[in-house]
Amino acid sequence: INYNLAHFVASYGKASQIPPSTCPEVSFVGRSNVGKSSIMNKLFGRKGLVKVSSTPGKTANINFFEADGIHFVDLPGYGFAQRSKAERDRWAVLIGDFLESERSFNLVVSLVDIRHDPSKLDFEMVDYLRENEFNFVVALTKADKLSRAQQARQLASIRKQLELPAEQIFVTSSQTGAGIDELKRRIAEHCLD
Ligand code: GTP
Ligand code: MG
Repeated sequence: INYNLAHFVASYGKASQIPPSTCPEVSFVGRSNVGKSSIMNKLFGRKGLVKVSSTPGKTANINFFEADGIHFVDLPGYGFAQRSKAERDRWAVLIGDFLESERSFNLVVSLVDIRHDPSKLDFEMVDYLRENEFNFVVALTKADKLSRAQQARQLASIRKQLELPAEQIFVTSSQTGAGIDELKRRIAEHCLD
């Protein structure tokens, strides 16, 4: 997969506006500010292609990117308390409608901050993906903010809490590029035949 060819396709404010899938799709979900947009930029090797912000709630729409015949879908983050209830509700509906729509969900990448225990909404997301039999992996983000030893401890702890097999969860950093090769392996595994 040549990620350097990545480009923006379209932005949608409603799941019902999105045309049917025409190719494999990889979707990124996780709480606001967890690093969804950043990990996509790292994957593409392109700093500013996907809009990133230190203010949670940067991504307010469902944004499609394409690289080498595969769609990469950046979703709004869930659960940012400082946003208005109306906004949070709109995003929850957007994410829910998207995941419930009839699409080629080749792989869902569920992002969780490595520094903290999973939030209630993180648990709900993983349970939802598991119960509905999505192909998914959990990418622990921002590993550069912890020491090696702390990373190992958090990986073990979060894996246990989320009840995931070892091969379904791994450590990443959009800063150092840690775990990006692993992510690319999973994407290739689910998107190429
Ligand atoms: P929303 O669009 O609001 O849902 O956020 P998001 O999940 O897309 O997060 P985004 O990629 O915009 O990153 C949020 C903040 O975290 C930015 O300030 C990033 O620079 C920072 N960040 C993201 N990934 C990493 C990482 O791996 N390491 C460090 N140190 N900071 C990161
Ligand atoms: Mg974003």
